[in-house]
Order: sequence, then structure tokens, then C-alpha cells
Amino acid sequence: MAERILTGIKPTGQLTLGNYIGVLKNLHKETSRGECFYFIADLHALTLPIDPDYLRGNSIDLACFYLAAGLDPNKVTLFLQSAVSAHAEMNAIMQNYLYMGELSRMTQFKDKSAKMNESAIGLGLFAYPVLMASDIILYDASIVPVGDDQKQHVELTRDLVNRFNHRYGDILTMPRPEMRKVGARIMSLSDPTKKMSKSDPKGDIFLKDDLATIRKKIMSAVTDSGSEVKYDVENKPGISNLLTIYACLKEISIEEAEKEFEGKRYGDFKKAVADVVCAEMEMFQKKYQEIKDSKIYEQVLRDGAKRASEVANNTLNRVKKAVGLLAL
Ligand code: TYM
Repeated sequence: MAERILTGIKPTGQLTLGNYIGVLKNLHKETSRGECFYFIADLHALTLPIDPDYLRGNSIDLACFYLAAGLDPNKVTLFLQSAVSAHAEMNAIMQNYLYMGELSRMTQFKDKSAKMNESAIGLGLFAYPVLMASDIILYDASIVPVGDDQKQHVELTRDLVNRFNHRYGDILTMPRPEMRKVGARIMSLSDPTKKMSKSDPKGDIFLKDDLATIRKKIMSAVTDSGSEVKYDVENKPGISNLLTIYACLKEISIEEAEKEFEGKRYGDFKKAVADVVCAEMEMFQKKYQEIKDSKIYEQVLRDGAKRASEVANNTLNRVKKAVGLLAL
């Protein structure tokens, strides 16, 4: 069987440059490696309170973003998680094979729940990795492209696959997380020791920001003491983050980027970063708007759900049989 590649993005807020560089930008390249399944993780978006209209709007935006990032719907399967009921069914089975202890050790759960009153933490937020593991195993995905912050969840999926296969035989496919060597963790522009994130708008660049705002945010990004444009995460986290953004968008190495700015001042460097980000976003936003206006995403998502359901139901039946559920 050819390799399967799967990833999802949550429509919880506006997508950031972190999401774009970390995964979105490179997804179209994966089609040369195997069969690609990409989805809108809308069930996951319900794990924290969200306004229904906002969720609907974000889901449409996300479909358009996937397509604007160059995905060819004839080559990849793009779908809404909630449109493929096998995700919820697999979740119901797999929740019995992951344990409270390991779920409570997940950093994302610890971070998110730390800010909440315990009585308001939904079960879904706690059990989030069970659904995510179900997403992955349903497609027999062996490659899961993600940013750094999702690695732990994919590792937990690997533990689940080991546990399940040990008990029932060779039923599930072992996935592996794949992160970009450079750009798997884009940091906030206002605090480069923190991740750029949808839920923490300070220091973010949003994919829908207008170009003037993007430029302003980059020009006022926190930099470090000193004057040399050098990659040094420890002592120069701000400059290192901007170098990472620049290198990823220009598709060059960090060393090549450093060379370009030898002897240059921070101001000139930031202007060059702003130019590159704005040029990329200008093209991307234009494509996004065309796709959104054409409504082409509706048919793409309908077709995607059909294809995804075929594959997912197949795996679901295999799992049902293995655990002793009658699949008549
Ligand atoms: P989400 O929606 O938070 O983020 C989508 C993807 O973007 C990556 N990412 C980043 N990469 C680099 N720098 C950043 N600052 C940055 N911020 C986010 C994330 O690592 C992610 O790859 N749980 C997932 C969605 C999901 C999923 C799945 C992913 C649900 N089921 C199955 C893979 C496989 C999430 O919340 O991603």
C-alpha cells in the first residue's frame, strides 16, 4: 500500500503565520510521497467554547486556506471531520485504550486547563488526544506532518497503536510525526519565547491581516540587544525567529539567510522580512479570496467527505471486528 499522509487544522480562530509556515505551506508537496488526507478539525474546535457562526465562518475560511496553499482537490482528499461519522465512532472505541494518567500529562491539556476553572473544563478537552488518535488511525496514516506542539499527541497515538496491536494483532498502522527541520515552532513577535498561536493574538500575524498591518507588526517585533543578525535562539530569540520566518518563506537555509544580512542593521533586516512576508501573503490572500468567492470549496468538501468515509469506514470495520463488535 502507498503511504498515507494525514493532517488536520482546528478552525478555532484565525490562522497564523505559524500554522502557515509550520504545515500549510508545504502540504502540496506531500502528494509526491503518497495519498494525502487533510481535514478541518471542527469537532476538535468544540473542545473550548466557540460561537456557532464564528466556527462556521472559520471552517469555510480554513477550506479556502487549504486550497489557496496550492492543494489540488484532484490529488488530495480535503474534508470536514464532522462530515465523516467514523471519527466519532472510532473515538468511542479508542477512548477505552488510552488512560487518564497519560491524558492528564499532555502539555496542551495542562496549558489550556491551567487558565480555566476546573468545573468548566469539558470532558472533550481532556479526551482531545483520543479523537486526534482516531483521526490518524482511521486513514492508516504513516506520516503526520505537524508543528512542534502536536508532536506529543502523535507520540501518544503511537503508544495507542502499540497497545492495541499487541492485544489484537496487526490491525492499526503505526504513524510518525513529521516536523519541518526549520519552522516547526514559529514564535510570537511580541514575546519570542512563546509560540505564535491562534488563541494568543498578541504578537501574531494572521493570514487575513492586511498587508499594512503585517508590515507594522514585523517592524515593531521585539528584537534583542546587540546589532548582529545571527541565529542564536538562546541569546537572540527575536532575531532567530525572524530569520526562521525569512528562511522558510524564501526556501533557503538559516545560514544562507544569515549571510544575506551580514553587516546589516536590524532595521534593514526587519524591512526585508516584512517585504518577503507581505509578498507571500499578497499572493496567498488573492487566491483565498478567489476561492471563497467561487464557492468551489463546497463541492470539494462534499467529494472529500465521500472519499474519506470510504477509507475510514473500512478501517472502522476492521477495528470493530478485532475488538468483538458484530459488524454484520
Ligand atoms: P492546530 O489547529 O492548533 O494547528 C495546526 C497546525 O499548525 C501547527 N502550528 C505551528 N507550527 C509552527 N509554528 C507555530 N507557532 C504553530 N502553531 C501551530 C500545529 O502544530 C499543527 O500542525 N490537534 C491539532 C489538529 C488535529 C490534528 C489531527 C493534526 C486534529 N486531529 C490529526 C494532525 C493529525 C491542532 O490543534 O492543530
